[in-house]
Amino acid sequence: MIEKRMDELIKIINQANIDYYVYDNPTLSDQEYDRYMEELQRLEKEHPDKIRNDSPTSRVGAEVISSFKKVVHEKPMLSLSNVFNEDEIINFDEKVKKVVKNPKYVAELKIDGLSVSLLYEKGKLVRAATRGDGTTGEDITHNAKTIKDIPLTIKKPIDIEVRGEIYMSKASFNKLNEEGSNFANPRNAAAGSVRQLDSKIAAKRNLSCFIYHLPNPEDYNIYTHNDALKFMSELGFVVNPNNKKVNDIKELIDYIDYWTINRPSLPYEIDGVVIKVNDLNDQEKLGFTARSPKWATAYKFPPEEVLTKVKKIVFTVGRTGQVTPSADLEPVRVMGSLIARATLHNEDYVKEKDIREGDIVSIKKAGDVIPEIVKVIFERRDSELKPFKMIDACPMCGTNLVKKDGESAYYCHNDKCPSRMQEALVHFTSRNAMNITGFGEAIIEDFYNRGYLKSVLDFYHLDNFKEELMELEGFGNKSISNLLEEIEKSKNNSLERLLFGLSIRHVGTKTADILGFNFKNIDSLMQASFDDLSNIKDIGPIIAKSVVDYFSDDKNIKLINSLKEEGVNTIYLKEVNKEETIFTNKTFVLTGSLERFTRDEAKEKIEELGGNVSGSVSKKTDVVIAGSEAGSKLTKAEELGIDIWNEEQFINNLSKY
Ligand code: IVH
Repeated sequence: MIEKRMDELIKIINQANIDYYVYDNPTLSDQEYDRYMEELQRLEKEHPDKIRNDSPTSRVGAEVISSFKKVVHEKPMLSLSNVFNEDEIINFDEKVKKVVKNPKYVAELKIDGLSVSLLYEKGKLVRAATRGDGTTGEDITHNAKTIKDIPLTIKKPIDIEVRGEIYMSKASFNKLNEEGSNFANPRNAAAGSVRQLDSKIAAKRNLSCFIYHLPNPEDYNIYTHNDALKFMSELGFVVNPNNKKVNDIKELIDYIDYWTINRPSLPYEIDGVVIKVNDLNDQEKLGFTARSPKWATAYKFPPEEVLTKVKKIVFTVGRTGQVTPSADLEPVRVMGSLIARATLHNEDYVKEKDIREGDIVSIKKAGDVIPEIVKVIFERRDSELKPFKMIDACPMCGTNLVKKDGESAYYCHNDKCPSRMQEALVHFTSRNAMNITGFGEAIIEDFYNRGYLKSVLDFYHLDNFKEELMELEGFGNKSISNLLEEIEKSKNNSLERLLFGLSIRHVGTKTADILGFNFKNIDSLMQASFDDLSNIKDIGPIIAKSVVDYFSDDKNIKLINSLKEEGVNTIYLKEVNKEETIFTNKTFVLTGSLERFTRDEAKEKIEELGGNVSGSVSKKTDVVIAGSEAGSKLTKAEELGIDIWNEEQFINNLSKY
């Protein structure tokens, strides 16, 4: 009796979900739906032995797993090759035509999410897995069950695997960030959500899923990709309604042009168009390379450009005193991130582009690069707008700015300039320097203005003001204790972090590390002569002079001695792996975005294992590590036949040591 009612409720709820999510045609009111759902939840609570594993209540995210199980894909989940312009599309078509006559294609939107494999047995969802390294992925069934587009039961009781893309709509992404999350784009947000052990989180995030690939079409007597899409849609999967059969390259280019323009009107992000040979027999003839099918490719959109207005040109004074103009923009969303500032680099740059306050400009953001102004839209310029004029005095302390010979930058030379000092404090805490978390720019500015922080040494005296700090608005006992704990922890950092943190001109992370490695402690470094320094490989005369100058200043010697007295470590502690690894003496290039590491973290790991990281691909590159969104560097590496690792392979290689 109870089982019968539970079955009935499941049927009603599943049908309502399909009507709502698949056909976009709700057949129950929200209240009715909630009532059925509550009744089912109540019955399941009272009769836990009768819970069906395809129950729609699993969508609310009740399951928490302790770790991700590995899943070996029956057929590898391949990636796609990329093309970036019309010539490359024509080239792709020509290669296809060498193998098959008169190919027809299906053009699809390239959804910006993460791929998923869904396995059904007798029509019931039994497993969902990520792509992973293509061969082995991770079991994310608990999270997939919370995604309403993914049917728990399909229309036929068959065994089937389908593949598609889990993504987050623009609306859900905006809502999530408004609620305080800080994901850079919907793809990262979707990936972050399916990687959660607790499915309640994925349930709340409101993810979606389009299905676009049937790995075993022959099992269902299907002979074209278009029929596969139709078949999967009939089973209850959500297939993108904008997929289109195209008869020739001209129709394909029209499709690309249409979506290049109309992309903003879609409720989700796309990053290109996927082109697939329609006939599955033709696909088989074309076959695969090691990493991608030869019967498909992805046209990637160029970085998105958006128009906005320059509200004001403002000037910031960095820790070295360099004064940099930036544009305060009317905030706009570019490639999923909200942009309100763009760097203008220096006077020459602004003058060359003739950027003025009040101008309408087009801005672009490519990958994780800082947004740039591409050009001024001169047709929309108001005739009243005044040409840019560089300031001649520091906006913070009023000191006259000085331009160095041969440089286009202006500097404020006042060592006591509040802006420089605050920037130096922020830099000291930054991740590659002393890595003291919890201090944002606003806190440092506040502590500076209140007199608690004037120089980097003051971080180590902050505990004297503990009582006063706890009284400040927005700070509690806990947050101040955390800050102090972080500061205490930083005393144990290896020397190169301190050297980078001290804001010595021309000493970046790499130089700081070379100095630390060669001198082992700060005392030897302080005694080093210009020649000692410039004899070191990779240390040129400019750096050598800057280091000697820094340590000839009594003020700096006093600072170092006081830091030592506070217990700050000044010895190089970094263990450089002496044993030979697959990374030893190899040159790596990182491209695209990695999910589990920032660029800096990946670089650090490679260097620890004896490798070098370079910014551009050349014949000297040994390995390119390609994250998602990898572009021209990956293409170049493929052309040069350089080894390419994806993130999973990188992790596997790291874990060997
Ligand atoms: S087909 C063997 N179709 O793009 C065929 N992929 O850069 C494999 N993607 O790994 C994929 N939309 O995560 C295909 N309509 C679409 C797609 C799509 C997005 C993703 C997918 C794939 C990546 C390749």
